[in-house]
Amino acid sequence: MSRVLLGVAGGIAAYKACLLLRRFAEAGHQVTVVPTPSALNFVGETTWAALSGRPVHTQVWADAHQVPHVALGREADLVVVAPATADLLARAATGRADDLLTNVLLTATCPVLMAPAMHTEMWLHPATQANVATLREHGVIVLDPDSGRLTGADTGPGRLPEPSEIEQAALSLLDVGAASAARARDLAGVRLTVSAGGTREALDPVRYLGNASSGRMGAAIARAALLRGADVRVVAGAMTAPVPGGADLVTVTSTADLAEAMTRAAADSDVLIMAAAPADFTPASPSAAKLKKEGDAGLTVSFTQTVDVLASLVRQRRPGQVIVGFAAETAGSASELLELGRAKLARKGCDLLVLNDVSGGAVFGAADNTVTIIDGDGVVDAVAADKNLVAHRILDAVATKRRSTR
Ligand code: CTP
Repeated sequence: MSRVLLGVAGGIAAYKACLLLRRFAEAGHQVTVVPTPSALNFVGETTWAALSGRPVHTQVWADAHQVPHVALGREADLVVVAPATADLLARAATGRADDLLTNVLLTATCPVLMAPAMHTEMWLHPATQANVATLREHGVIVLDPDSGRLTGADTGPGRLPEPSEIEQAALSLLDVGAASAARARDLAGVRLTVSAGGTREALDPVRYLGNASSGRMGAAIARAALLRGADVRVVAGAMTAPVPGGADLVTVTSTADLAEAMTRAAADSDVLIMAAAPADFTPASPSAAKLKKEGDAGLTVSFTQTVDVLASLVRQRRPGQVIVGFAAETAGSASELLELGRAKLARKGCDLLVLNDVSGGAVFGAADNTVTIIDGDGVVDAVAADKNLVAHRILDAVATKRRSTR
């Protein structure tokens, strides 16, 4: 159990912070809520107290003998501010301490994550952008807001990311390595493209051959890379996991579409990660009309092999580009898994291969993953953890590889 301090500033998205609070509490964390006085105009103290099961602190002047503005910041393992309004960002960037939350922000030494939400004009204003840049320089991890429908009829960047998205980003920061990479923005300026999900190969206009990939690992890589400051593009096949809003999204259907989108992305990417599960075979001659049953006859379909996207990316690799493949194998033992991985790495020619054992289908859609990361010299890292943490370890290996190839 970790101690999460949830700061809530005065914006309409404060109601979504109730859902975020619930998610943290359900994940077993102790959550202390510190709303600003304006936040209480949107959601009252009773709601925060009932949902957190703890007293709510709103003022510097209450319980002064316990010096709450120092104690709350010092005791937290993680501070999350959601929503962070333009005003809160401005006050935090300049080190103001004019309410309890800004006092806490000055005393907290743990990772601080801010999820801004405001109207598009306010987000895009040079003053707000400068405040965000200052906060990031100070080691505060500031998420980019989602684009979409705002409070009125207007749309644009400024929406609070979904509570589940903030939760996943936040909880990965409880890991010391992930938090220090995110605070340092070690991938700032890096253009990273990750493929995710499964492809669908059409049999006829309504039927397809697909697979069980949820896209969760690819989405976790995108989320981790965004936290570390990268420019992220996700080439997404069929997937049930949501793609983080800060990433550029390119959707594809078949392996051929995926190959085309990845080849295009490769022209301006520093890092390419093939976390997708493309179909290896596609019906040789898909039917233009819906296939009909004929008497009690079965159906025989012949398939041709699809393009190997990863291998073709390696063939066109730009100087300094780091390419990462995944290998889903069903191996009888750890040594056999490693052998299969080494052979696949050599065959595909990528810089890093993330090996996982899919015996029993355990990986698909699960929150956790067990992987071994290898390069041409052998095992780089081995980790069994939540996919968000696995994603950070893959990015650690990518960052090391980038340093050694430059
Ligand atoms: N991959 C790809 N294009 C394909 C199939 C797979 O780029 N047509 C990529 C996957 O995204 C993954 C890696 O290749 O990064 C390995 O995928 P995997 O399914 O384990 O390997 P295969 O290439 O299918 O090899 P094999 O059938 O020999 O196991």
